[in-house]
Amino acid sequence: MRYIIRKINWRKKDKAGIPYDFLDIMKYFNKNLKAGKYPYVPRKNSPLTKKEILRIWVPNKKENVGLVCEDAKNKKIVAAANIALDTGIMTITKDLDCKEKGIGIKLTKKIIKEGLKRKIKVIVRTSIFNIPMIKIMKKLGYGNGKLIENFEVYRGKIEKSNYDVFEWIIKSS
Ligand SMILES: CC(C)(COP(=O)(O)OP(=O)(O)OC[C@H]1O[C@@H](n2cnc3c(N)ncnc32)[C@H](O)[C@@H]1OP(=O)(O)O)[C@@H](O)C(=O)NCCC(=O)NCCS
Repeated sequence: MRYIIRKINWRKKDKAGIPYDFLDIMKYFNKNLKAGKYPYVPRKNSPLTKKEILRIWVPNKKENVGLVCEDAKNKKIVAAANIALDTGIMTITKDLDCKEKGIGIKLTKKIIKEGLKRKIKVIVRTSIFNIPMIKIMKKLGYGNGKLIENFEVYRGKIEKSNYDVFEWIIKSS
């Protein structure tokens, strides 16, 4: 198995206390953002920083559930997904230089399962232009999603002037 989906490893960290997994995510995230490969991620011109990870990600360990996808051959993280347990909001990114297909759908399926196990409502939102993410949600059986027009959080933060999103609210049955 070349790609492994696993939880964040909180034991392996740098001197400042940042898990190496987060540093890997930061690296691929900023590389893709800079290359214009994340047009639907609401962080236009706003790369991730170590400071932000230390201030927000590390102390909020218990308020989130995170999964990563690791390339087992070179031990590199190629994708990550998170659910904030207070809001239920799910996020996912992949290093788009990794050409392996199917990572997005597998990781989405697993992270939603993690949220539902904790009896929370999982919320997935994405731009109406984000074809891969919309395909994933449809393939997982969640249908079209509800249209929310001019979604506040995206305004001025994604590389599009239309801020409409699809939203899926997923509850455990
Ligand atoms: C969303 C994302 C995680 C999906 O990851 P992925 O590994 O490409 O997903 P999959 O390989 O499981 O592919 C999902 C579907 O989208 C298709 N797809 C992937 N990239 C595509 C592209 N650029 N254009 C059109 N379709 C694409 C795949 O072919 C697949 O469809 P298929 O099964 O009919 O072939 C990834 O595209 C990503 O990181 N995007 C940027 C961050 C982002 O937008 N995150 C979502 C915010 S909620």
